[in-house]
Amino acid sequence: MKKVRKAIFPVGGLGTRFLPATKAMPKEMLPVVDKPLIQYAVEEAAAAGIEEFIFVTGRGKTSIEDHFDHSFELESMLKDRGNNNALDDLSGLVRAPGSICYLRQQEPLGLGHAVWCARHLINDEPFAVLSADDFILSDQPCLKQMVEAYDDGNMVAVTNVPQQNVSRYGILDVDRDEGNKVWAKGVVEKPPVDKAPSNVAIIGRYVLLPEIFTHLERQERGAGGEIQLTDAFIPMIGKYPFVGYRFKGRRFDCGSKEGLLAANLNVAFKRDDLKQSVTQEIQALYDEISEHSQNVKIKGA
Ligand code: G1P
Repeated sequence: MKKVRKAIFPVGGLGTRFLPATKAMPKEMLPVVDKPLIQYAVEEAAAAGIEEFIFVTGRGKTSIEDHFDHSFELESMLKDRGNNNALDDLSGLVRAPGSICYLRQQEPLGLGHAVWCARHLINDEPFAVLSADDFILSDQPCLKQMVEAYDDGNMVAVTNVPQQNVSRYGILDVDRDEGNKVWAKGVVEKPPVDKAPSNVAIIGRYVLLPEIFTHLERQERGAGGEIQLTDAFIPMIGKYPFVGYRFKGRRFDCGSKEGLLAANLNVAFKRDDLKQSVTQEIQALYDEISEHSQNVKIKGA
């Protein structure tokens, strides 16, 4: 079996849900505490053994390129000040020369289209796709868990979602559920709640066969009028295994404000330098809420 060496990061999305924050800044650069979302995704890929990092970007995304490059002025200033910790953090961002590449998706035509844009950079080998919006807190990085469990076919990270939320996701039609591996006989992108075959939802981590490009090539429009990655799995089911991998960890939908807030709180709470102040803040909020609900009760009595 060929090693999974390459990863595609689709980062062309507009981030309208975070306007005005994302007017002049890519949504992938929004921080969870002090690191941008895209950095977590790149670190996760590197921990899974990825050697080549392919970013499918769009207009207004150049700060992502700058983030993963040297900043000589900043580095020399930190050196002069003897701030070695910050220097180490920055130098860890710069990967081996030639291992990162950026290409543009000129039009936002969907996730399937974004992945297809990178087709000439993937040879005859399985590759990973990571969505920075899906932030995953886990002991072992999610993609590493998947790469270790992968043996053939297409594999997608999955989690069970509340039934009322199925229409936000790619949903598996489950054939055999073995706990951490779910074998699917079909998949549907963003089904209406009453038509969903299950509540097993795709999360933005994939290990895919290069044959998927043949199917994406057809550029067929699916849910929301977009070229969907999910739709390209369908003709491959039966020919190759199609497996949902129930990763160990918690996923935060950082494409939503609630998810980004929750991710920030949870990461801060796990950090020695922030745990105390976060706890105090949560306690203060909790007191305020309790006081408020008491007032409401008294008023109602
Ligand atoms: C994409 C995929 C969908 C998947 C989701 C996970 O949708 O198309 O299958 O369930 O990511 O985050 P998007 O959220 O980009 O609309």
